[in-house]
Amino acid sequence: MVLLDQTRLPAEEVELVCTDVPALVRAIRTLAVRGAPLLGIAGGYGVALAAARGYDVAEAAGLLEGARPTAVNLGYGVRRVATAYWAAARKGAEAAEAAAVALTEAQALHREDARASARMAEHGTALLEELLPGRGYQLLTHCNTGALVSGGEGTAFAVALRVHRQGRLRRLWVDETRPLLQGARLTAYEAARGGMAYSLLTDSAAGSLFAAGEVDAVLIGADRITADGSVANKVGSYPLAVLAKYHHVPFIVVAPTTTVDMETAEGTSIVVEQRSGQEVTEVTSPRSGSTGGGGGMVVAPLGAPVYNPAFDVTPPELITAIVTEEGVISPVTGVGLAELCARSSQV
Ligand code: MRU
Repeated sequence: MVLLDQTRLPAEEVELVCTDVPALVRAIRTLAVRGAPLLGIAGGYGVALAAARGYDVAEAAGLLEGARPTAVNLGYGVRRVATAYWAAARKGAEAAEAAAVALTEAQALHREDARASARMAEHGTALLEELLPGRGYQLLTHCNTGALVSGGEGTAFAVALRVHRQGRLRRLWVDETRPLLQGARLTAYEAARGGMAYSLLTDSAAGSLFAAGEVDAVLIGADRITADGSVANKVGSYPLAVLAKYHHVPFIVVAPTTTVDMETAEGTSIVVEQRSGQEVTEVTSPRSGSTGGGGGMVVAPLGAPVYNPAFDVTPPELITAIVTEEGVISPVTGVGLAELCARSSQV
């Protein structure tokens, strides 16, 4: 399996070859491959890889699903492909035949994600036009939600890109996204490649930008959306939602329905991944691999205790709308979410 190693961007575009499941698990843990939709796709291909190599698919699925806890897409992709494999095996398919079924399912998931991305971009731009008619926008985004994390052009970033192509993007404000700099390293890279007008800011500069009236809407992705409409996303999203509420700025979450977890009732039940303190006490240059933790410039006293959650949870009352491939939910309610998911499962 060949991946673009996201820890090396933007300095280098380096491929990472994973020939077995433990290598893919490492790539997921170190964030060489990351972002909710891509984790689903990678997990699905990981199961197909295990099947093709003749590994124990149940064991591989367990390892992959356990690689990171918060993004629901990872478990979704793994289970979906494993289920297809087992169904084929139960019907008496030979190992190679069942492995081919697994690969076909992973490819279908990949294609569906690309289609969902395009639909979210359409729904998201229509929503912006409805909320802020007849104008160009200054949009603020956090973390990285573009083509790097998707079968298509992404989630929140795909909306900004479509706005840009319509000639209506005045500026994309890109939060650097401490500590692993997904905004600075990856979103700025994608914005530059897309020819978008963008500016990078430190996460803590966002408040003054809102106060100056320079943000028309916030667009972010999601790692897990619970049945009550709570959204787990990269740490730093919740403070943006609070700022947006105070400044009467729309706070819009863009995510495929595969990110919705109707089995978890509330945001407080989401398992938030806690990562190594070294990611905070050391700053590593992208050239040497920015997300491995360790080996970087030390910026805190030796042994400093660290709080390093990878995500935070935004409650539904702070969210103006959730945009999915199936449509927009606004206001965000559990009932609206359930209806939308029922529609998506009928497709
Ligand atoms: O820790 P990461 O880089 O995997 O976190 C990714 C995010 O939080 C993204 O915003 C989210 O997965 C949405 S990606 C479309």
